[in-house]
Amino acid sequence: MARHRITFRPSGLTFLADGRQDLLAAAVAAGIAVPAACRNGVCELCEATLVAGPVRNTRNQWMIAETGRLMLCRSQAAGPAELKIEAVMAVGKNAPRKFQANVVDVQSISHDVYQVQLQLPYRRELSFHAGQYLSVVLPGTDPCYFSIASSPLVATLELHIQATPDWVSAQRVIDAIKSGNAVTLEVPHGQACLAAVPEKPLLLVAAGTGFAQMKSIVDYLRTTSFSESVRLFWGVRRQHDMYLRGLAQQWQEQWSQFTFVPVVGDDEDNDWGGHHDQLVRAVLAADVDWRHVQVMASGSPAMVYTLMDALVDAGLPVGDFYSDVLEYAPRAD
Ligand code: FES
Repeated sequence: MARHRITFRPSGLTFLADGRQDLLAAAVAAGIAVPAACRNGVCELCEATLVAGPVRNTRNQWMIAETGRLMLCRSQAAGPAELKIEAVMAVGKNAPRKFQANVVDVQSISHDVYQVQLQLPYRRELSFHAGQYLSVVLPGTDPCYFSIASSPLVATLELHIQATPDWVSAQRVIDAIKSGNAVTLEVPHGQACLAAVPEKPLLLVAAGTGFAQMKSIVDYLRTTSFSESVRLFWGVRRQHDMYLRGLAQQWQEQWSQFTFVPVVGDDEDNDWGGHHDQLVRAVLAADVDWRHVQVMASGSPAMVYTLMDALVDAGLPVGDFYSDVLEYAPRAD
């Protein structure tokens, strides 16, 4: 079956779609993050405008007129086509913007972690990549930064917020969220993300709530055509800190290319350094060709730089190591 080149504007991203696939499925399979929820033409998150080319509505088989509005999940290409979709941005082009978000759900999922679901009134106005983070902006305080734990392909934004009474800023955010009022977000931030499907096997390393960033990446990759292996190492201090262990185990059972390696410290009250060493040792012990893998790491600067140095010594090209730490806590050379 013929495959047609589809171009998104203004991002300039292109992908191939055959005449049987809807355009949403073809774009997502190519690793392009298009917001979507219902996948049957109702939520309007995947709305685009036809600029040029033959595209048909899969519901009634009518051809869509140029400048016509369409839902990607209900459209198929009959030839090369160009579409305008503001919600899809090219790599590095999605500058942070402020949004008001409504709280859909907030649940305590461990002794100190809350899982929060937020919704924007116009989700399709927001474009972000899997692995990016946001800030919650409360009046009179500094912004608080959290990884987005959900895939850019879904309607809601999920956060994992670790909050204890002595962690004042995070506790303040949880109090604001629990009040039920809308909160101000600035989205997106971060360069350590997937703007497209990687070309190498992927190794994800998370400490504590760094798991949130990896969840966004896994949720996203599972809906694409990515076929390389994905390994997740999740390090925590104590068993009960691994707040979504069941979910990570479920990924391993359901997704054959995925491996989950939990790394749990002992119950002694050691400092984090010891446990970070333990996580780094577990990663180094993995049977991996370090010359041919992409690593994404989320945790404290101490953990991230220890890991990076160890992996580069083991043969990892430094350009294949990604972490937000490199951006917000650069090392003095
Ligand atoms: S209209 Fe809901 S995903 Fe397309």
